[in-house]
Amino acid sequence: MSRPAGIDFNRLYADADPFGYRTRWYEQRKRNLMMAALPRERFARGWELGCSNGELTAALGERCDALLGTDISAQAIALARLRVGPVSRVVLEQATHPAVWPSGQFDLIVFSEVGYYFEPGAFEQTVAALRGSLAVDGCLLACHWRHPFEGAQRSAEEVHLALQHSLALPSACRYDDSDFILQVWAPDPSVAQQEGLR
Ligand SMILES: C[S@@+](CC[C@H](N)C(=O)[O-])C[C@H]1O[C@@H](n2cnc3c(N)ncnc32)[C@H](O)[C@@H]1O
Repeated sequence: MSRPAGIDFNRLYADADPFGYRTRWYEQRKRNLMMAALPRERFARGWELGCSNGELTAALGERCDALLGTDISAQAIALARLRVGPVSRVVLEQATHPAVWPSGQFDLIVFSEVGYYFEPGAFEQTVAALRGSLAVDGCLLACHWRHPFEGAQRSAEEVHLALQHSLALPSACRYDDSDFILQVWAPDPSVAQQEGLR
């Protein structure tokens, strides 16, 4: 895969929905799969890294007592604020990772459609820091588009392999189709075990 110059995300968000999160059924279905794949009904403190215009953030906000959404683009954060509305448990902040990193630990980290954008070096740093930001009982959900595109520094497989290696956690579930990979790493017993079904 070639290594093109970085994407100007602020320019991208001159369009309020550049990825079609609000209009494409593909995106709605993928979001529903992500929400269904989370192995717990509720989380105490979640973080969505690269929250874009807030469409997934709004769904995650329904499952978290506190949720942080961050994005490199101030314009994306402004759009996410409009989408989420005045919900005090959801905090949205402009931040360029890994240079800026939130303090504390999270029992849910969502790293969706973002791993391909980091420059080499920054990617390795980010993946290592994610491990440190996960609480002992924390789970991380990642989801990535499988097809090459302009601006991608690495493939979905490369992102998920790096996470697998760094997190050193059991893979709670993985969904693969020809378009994307969705995977959750968590130390949890299965959902059936949590519910006393077995
Ligand atoms: C394709 S969107 C993903 C949106 C959402 N997470 C989802 O899956 O629906 C990726 C977002 O990551 C942000 N991003 C890219 N590199 C980043 C970085 N180094 N730090 C913070 N955000 C970044 C971009 O601005 C963009 O809004």
